[in-house]
Amino acid sequence: MEASAKARGTGIAKRSPEYVQLKMDEGKAVIALTKGGEWVGFCYIEAWGHEKFVANSGLIVNPAFRGHGVAKAIKEKIFELSRKKYPDAKIFGLTTGLAVMKINSDLGYEPVTYSELTDDEEFWKGCRSCVNFDVLTAKNRKNCLCTAMLYDPVEKAKEAEEKAAAERNKLVVTTAGDMQQEKKKRKFKGNFSLFERWVRYKKYVLLKAARKSGGSGAAGSGKKRFFFGWL
Ligand SMILES: CC(C)(COP(=O)(O)OP(=O)(O)OC[C@H]1O[C@@H](n2cnc3c(N)ncnc32)[C@H](O)[C@@H]1OP(=O)(O)O)[C@@H](O)C(=O)NCCC(=O)NCCS
Repeated sequence: MEASAKARGTGIAKRSPEYVQLKMDEGKAVIALTKGGEWVGFCYIEAWGHEKFVANSGLIVNPAFRGHGVAKAIKEKIFELSRKKYPDAKIFGLTTGLAVMKINSDLGYEPVTYSELTDDEEFWKGCRSCVNFDVLTAKNRKNCLCTAMLYDPVEKAKEAEEKAAAERNKLVVTTAGDMQQEKKKRKFKGNFSLFERWVRYKKYVLLKAARKSGGSGAAGSGKKRFFFGWL
């Protein structure tokens, strides 16, 4: 995983082999294999903030098997397992990868600000081994190169309830404003080229700020401010 992150020029929250082994022993990992036993892919679950948050981490697919939907299948499986083991937890992920953003989005994750993630210090300590840790520190943990995505079971249950209610009341006339909102939402969903452009821009700005400050805590000191909204 580390070698793969290096090759991509991105960071990684490094874990020890013993830690990853423990995840397998605890039944908190998904391992994809061929029938012949060849390793195809992997991902594991971590719980944070007294199990209020869960992260599906360490996703990796053997290069020989990429581009065939393996990551998607693994993420679906680990998501299912996370929901079963921690039904009340919010599931989140931090990633720079477009493939993972796509998969997460299909699973119902939404992009969020870092403030909506766990404040568990142990989780954030994991970022110390990332090459972009200076950027995270300079931004007071409010932003970095990774995009944060979150699945909130309470929100999802509410949405499902609203959808069911809307279905029941299909004939109710909606306001023009609401319809415009709805159209906008549908239009943006899946617009990943725009998202990709945003990620590139974010990278450019954050890394430039970090270089200017020599990696110290003063980067960006409020001069350049930007945000990203999914809708
Ligand atoms: C990222 C990675 C896990 C993807 O695995 P994969 O099995 O090739 O992915 P899938 O075939 O399941 O593709 C899932 C979706 O992502 C898209 N995708 C795959 N690789 C992509 C890429 N490099 N750029 C953009 N989109 C990509 C696919 O088109 C697919 O989208 P679709 O459902 O709309 O068709 C794999 O390339 C990998 O192991 N990379 C190194 C480790 C890594 O980056 N891990 C993620 C850390 S957060």
